[in-house]
Amino acid sequence: MRFGKCTGSGIRIKPSFSISRLSPITINRYVIKSLNDSSWYKIAESVAEIHFSPNGLAIRTAAGKAITVGICNGQLIACAHKCPHAGGILADGYIDSLGNIVCPLHRYKFDPRNGRNVSGEGFFLKTFAIEEKADGVYVNIPGL
Ligand code: FES
Repeated sequence: MRFGKCTGSGIRIKPSFSISRLSPITINRYVIKSLNDSSWYKIAESVAEIHFSPNGLAIRTAAGKAITVGICNGQLIACAHKCPHAGGILADGYIDSLGNIVCPLHRYKFDPRNGRNVSGEGFFLKTFAIEEKADGVYVNIPGL
């Protein structure tokens, strides 16, 4: 692939790329890859199988990796096993009245829907999509 053409006068002409110059096979491969996303991991046969502690949180494993799952305002949530501040086990914390996960070590709070550190210390909690389907509960962990 050339990125420019020498005109002999020392001036480089920018190439005129357009979408029509891309191979349709390349485009199709990209689409197929995104449709076959294999980042979903089954963590339980059903929500009832997950033994949530009284704080509404539990530890499950997805492909050998521990994660925190919980029920917040009737919705399933999933996030990293450890707090991004200093590694507190988030399943030992609790969910506050606003639906934030509160770390048991220093009480930093995180919004489990987007990972924002709502108590303002500047950390970010990794969160995962979680879905209950007819055959089980699945968590999406890209790159695992
Ligand atoms: S380890 Fe979680 S707030 Fe410090």
